[in-house]
Amino acid sequence: MKLWQKNNNSPSGDGVEVEKFTVGNDREFDLLLAPFDVLGNIAHAKMLATVGLLTNDEAEKLATELKEIYKTTQQDNSSPSGDGGFTIHDDIEDIHSQIEFLLTEKLGDIGKKIHSARSRNDQVLVDIKLFLRQEIKQIVLSIQSFFELLIQQSEKYKNDLLPGYTHLQLAMPSSFGLWFGAYAESLVDDVNTLKAAYDVVNKNPLGSAAGYGSSFPINRTLTTQLLGFDDLHYNVVYAQMSRGKTERIVASALTNIADTLARLSMDMCLYLNQNFGFVSFPAELTTGSSIMPHKKNPDVFELIRSHCNQIKALPNEIMMMTTNLPSGYHRDLQLLKEHLFPAFTTLNDCINMAALMLSNIEVKKDILDDEKYKYLFSVEEVNRLVNNGMPFRDAYKKIGLDIENGKFEYSTTVQHVHEGSIGNLMNDKIAANMQKAVESFHFEKYHAAVEKLLG
Ligand code: ARG
Repeated sequence: MKLWQKNNNSPSGDGVEVEKFTVGNDREFDLLLAPFDVLGNIAHAKMLATVGLLTNDEAEKLATELKEIYKTTQQDNSSPSGDGGFTIHDDIEDIHSQIEFLLTEKLGDIGKKIHSARSRNDQVLVDIKLFLRQEIKQIVLSIQSFFELLIQQSEKYKNDLLPGYTHLQLAMPSSFGLWFGAYAESLVDDVNTLKAAYDVVNKNPLGSAAGYGSSFPINRTLTTQLLGFDDLHYNVVYAQMSRGKTERIVASALTNIADTLARLSMDMCLYLNQNFGFVSFPAELTTGSSIMPHKKNPDVFELIRSHCNQIKALPNEIMMMTTNLPSGYHRDLQLLKEHLFPAFTTLNDCINMAALMLSNIEVKKDILDDEKYKYLFSVEEVNRLVNNGMPFRDAYKKIGLDIENGKFEYSTTVQHVHEGSIGNLMNDKIAANMQKAVESFHFEKYHAAVEKLLG
């Protein structure tokens, strides 16, 4: 049964094929939208009562029933006992139809009234916005604890030196303190760009209906407040155009985090390689080989790298899938769900696995004492001469010639004191910036709104 069907006949013949094709995998992803569709319904019903399209009593009854449905969306219906969790029935097209069907089944004509002044086009829009708001919050929380670990490790290993490379050639001394702290600070920028995406997400499209508004005098400001959005997409045509664009902007923000993790993973694969040998991990965090008995492979980091690189392809995928779509709704947009939605779970898993690995890392001590790293100290020696009064270019030439003539002498003490260097990591500043970035989301505002709607 479809909302747009005028009789009660089930599809037959070619209709079955068309339904199978048009619905595709969509129910699986719509299930993730279920709690958010309920929230949108409650806000919409409350608003309809304020403009006379429902009585207060009708809106109350709808809200009570919707809260019951909400509870079923929070149950685990994967349990074998099948304890009555929320499902979208095979003969029902999507989440929006399923919920209207349940309301009508329970409340008769009252249920049939709820679709005044809206369309599935703005329902799915609002559902996606609410879903993304929650998923972004989860990512921010995971990043926050991973960040704390990176800062802790940076402090713990701040005196352990590491070769620094440019062009993958030995360059200058670095340290594990710098290495961990670098990825921590990278995450600050990633969270700030995610906040920019969140600002696009956190706007209310509800009331744009099919994409052209409604002749009912609805109150969109009210649903904006009820759902805890920061603002609304004012122009109804743009509200519809925000579908696809919002997903792409969020995907772009995810790519920054993915890129940070992929890079970190690549460093770990290199550092674990025997020719580097800078770090090791307990055997249970590495994997073996079926033929080579000595193997301890970094499969976890390789898979983080691959998953993250896959996420980096997402904005492109979304861009291609929405290329040349004119304004207005198009069914093409439905498929974006199956590309974007799984990325959140994947990215969360990657963050948590990176945290598991790095909390168990073993760092090799005194790496730079090995003579093969001696030229890392060439700039230190140039700087020593400069400190003793020689112009930089002369000092550079002298050390260069010493190296060429096999006369290079060096000391392994490094004295870097400026901001953000080996001897002065300034992790407290980096942590303060992360704190500021996380607080800028004001998740408490949306929590309060959701709790009030469900209260
Ligand atoms: N499953 C559809 C989607 O995700 C819901 C909206 C349907 N609207 C329509 N005009 N057919 O886009």
